[in-house]
Amino acid sequence: MDRFINDLMSQMTVAEKIGQLNLVTAGEAVTGSVVSTDVESKIKAGKIGGIFSMSTPQRIRAAQELAVNHSRLKIPIIFGMDVIHGYKTIFPIPLGLAATWDMELIQETARIAAEEASADGLNWTFSPMVDVSRDPRWGRISEGSGEDTYLGSRIAEAMVRGYQGKDLTAHNTLMACVKHFALYGAAEAGRDYNTTDMSLHRMYNEYLPPYKAAIDAGAGSVMTAFNDINGVPATANKWLMTDVLRKQWGFDGFVVTDYTAVNELIDHGLGDLQEVSALSLKAGVEMDMVGEGFLTTLQQSLDEGKVSEEEIDRACRLVLEAKYKLGLFEDPFRYCDESRAKEAILNPGHLAKAREAAGKSFVLLKNEGQVLPLKKQGTVALIGPLANTGANMPGTWSVSADLDNTPSLLEGMRSALGDQVKIVHHQGSNLLEDAAYQERATMFGRTIPRDERPEAEVLAEALAIANQADVVVAALGESSEMSGESSSRVDLNIPAVQQRLLAGLLQTGKPVVLVLFTGRPLTLTWEDEQVPAILNVWFGGTETGKAVADVLFGDVNPSGKLPATFPQHVGQVPLYYSHKNTGRPLAEGQWFEKFRSNYLDVTNEPLYPFGYGLSYTSFGYGELTLSSAELSRGGKLQVSVQVTNTGNYAGEEVVQLYIRDLVGSVTRPVKELKAFRKIRLEPGQSQEVVFDLTEEDLKFYNAELEHVAEAGEFAVFVGTNSRDVQEKRFTLK
Ligand code: BGC
Repeated sequence: MDRFINDLMSQMTVAEKIGQLNLVTAGEAVTGSVVSTDVESKIKAGKIGGIFSMSTPQRIRAAQELAVNHSRLKIPIIFGMDVIHGYKTIFPIPLGLAATWDMELIQETARIAAEEASADGLNWTFSPMVDVSRDPRWGRISEGSGEDTYLGSRIAEAMVRGYQGKDLTAHNTLMACVKHFALYGAAEAGRDYNTTDMSLHRMYNEYLPPYKAAIDAGAGSVMTAFNDINGVPATANKWLMTDVLRKQWGFDGFVVTDYTAVNELIDHGLGDLQEVSALSLKAGVEMDMVGEGFLTTLQQSLDEGKVSEEEIDRACRLVLEAKYKLGLFEDPFRYCDESRAKEAILNPGHLAKAREAAGKSFVLLKNEGQVLPLKKQGTVALIGPLANTGANMPGTWSVSADLDNTPSLLEGMRSALGDQVKIVHHQGSNLLEDAAYQERATMFGRTIPRDERPEAEVLAEALAIANQADVVVAALGESSEMSGESSSRVDLNIPAVQQRLLAGLLQTGKPVVLVLFTGRPLTLTWEDEQVPAILNVWFGGTETGKAVADVLFGDVNPSGKLPATFPQHVGQVPLYYSHKNTGRPLAEGQWFEKFRSNYLDVTNEPLYPFGYGLSYTSFGYGELTLSSAELSRGGKLQVSVQVTNTGNYAGEEVVQLYIRDLVGSVTRPVKELKAFRKIRLEPGQSQEVVFDLTEEDLKFYNAELEHVAEAGEFAVFVGTNSRDVQEKRFTLK
């Protein structure tokens, strides 16, 4: 590779090298204000290194032909896309996938996404998104794996493996791009693109590990973040991109900016376009997405001595290396096999996997009196603004989904259940009372029709339908565009108009099941008090409707566990299980005590803790045992527990292990997830679950940012969620 690239670069002019650093959009699926223009003539002039959001082998072949037949040095283009949770076969949103706690399944979903996207000509995806987020006001919490560092790191690895496979030159793999580097999930007040300011200690221990895990798994590229970090925006942050990413972590791929992030450095207040482009290159960026600051100013900066040719060469080399690793120099058309798309895209195997993944992502939040599973008989009233909108099933960031042909919940349920169950339907209410808000919340073709009649009239009609049924399924919550990019919210309730509908449905006296659509943790305090059964289905993707039918009627036993805490009240945010103890902790189970760390008006507890999720069956935990009261350096400690399915359904359980370092040179969280195991048990069946703990699991970054395990006492907790655990103690020698 080095020889090949040295030879190629020796023939390149500076302008051609700068051209390789330019990533443009073909004009489909744009999220910013600038749309790339004049793509064809720029390809011929060697001014484009990559194109994103262009698809189909025919179109990509045409663009690639321009590059390899009409540009001077015939350098192929890299083709990217936001393939985030599936390509055409859409899987649950990433937060939902995280709720499966099933790494094999997550890897498979990424593999299928790569299989389909590469069959459509692509070779690069802007995924995985690994931003830890503890703020459900932030709409993009939906795109990541939630609040936890450990779970997020395991998922990051699984996704990179799924996309990249073992061989990046294979025609069915994609190069991964880890994003958004870094700390994008910690935007102040949960407002998108907002500032982050964070101690190094917290960064290293809690926010950076998932990016590092993805890089250690071999991710070929990294995307910068939009946000400011401690005074230096990520896209101009040399410490981050050069010292941490390259020097400390040894990353050898390339860094691309987020959409027009170089240009946005002007608004951050770092200078004019020429200045910020130079800053960004020098900080360690190789490719400039859409804004063309590099293309239009780097030559001048070179002439004025503001950047060096070595800096341009470094960036160009890394972009060319990525193309080499993808095998594009060998065969620029290796991803353009027109016959593959027909076989790969939306094939029955992929759809079956999407149905399975959706069912496994659902989290049963409440099931009083075993309302669920329902019997396959009688009449079900499916009511609510999310009941019959196919376009809202794929969820946010599914740019390549075929919205017109995605079945709605109603359609999916009908096709799964056939004539065993009669389903009657009514929209029940608008998504939001305020039409202008509803418009903002249903962009990009994800519309939900409005009923402009008086609310009482619509409600009365819906209740008449509900009264015909044996059971009511209320399909409520957020539309898919109420989460995702630039979709922050300060109110985390189900919209009030839908709550009024729900209250009406409860008054019918029929059993009511709330099927909750959401891209973030919501505050469900009222619903939890009033509704007997709540199934959180996030946004389940293409096969949502069938998967909901599978779970509601007991063909699939729900096993999802929350990857993010559901607060009681938005005022508790950020609320996460791995918080510090403080010097004035509140005793467990207490509400208020003067001069303790608490609130006057709400307890410190979440509504549903991290790791929580019910099943149709029940699991009994035997006594937690440790192989020893001491762990020696280099040795291992076995933590075991016997888990038994004590109910009547076969089911899956995620057995979770947390630790607490009781005394440290710096304060440590009250609990940290360190291992988990997902097991399947038949009724009456038991399994011994054994975890091996080593010194490695006890390490953290101390005040000097050394990764150490400190001798002393530790607590280890095992249980069904982060709250309901057993505890034992041991000592690290
Ligand atoms: C988003 C990225 C995405 C990019 C390209 C940006 O607005 O922040 O996550 O990859 O657009 O579509």
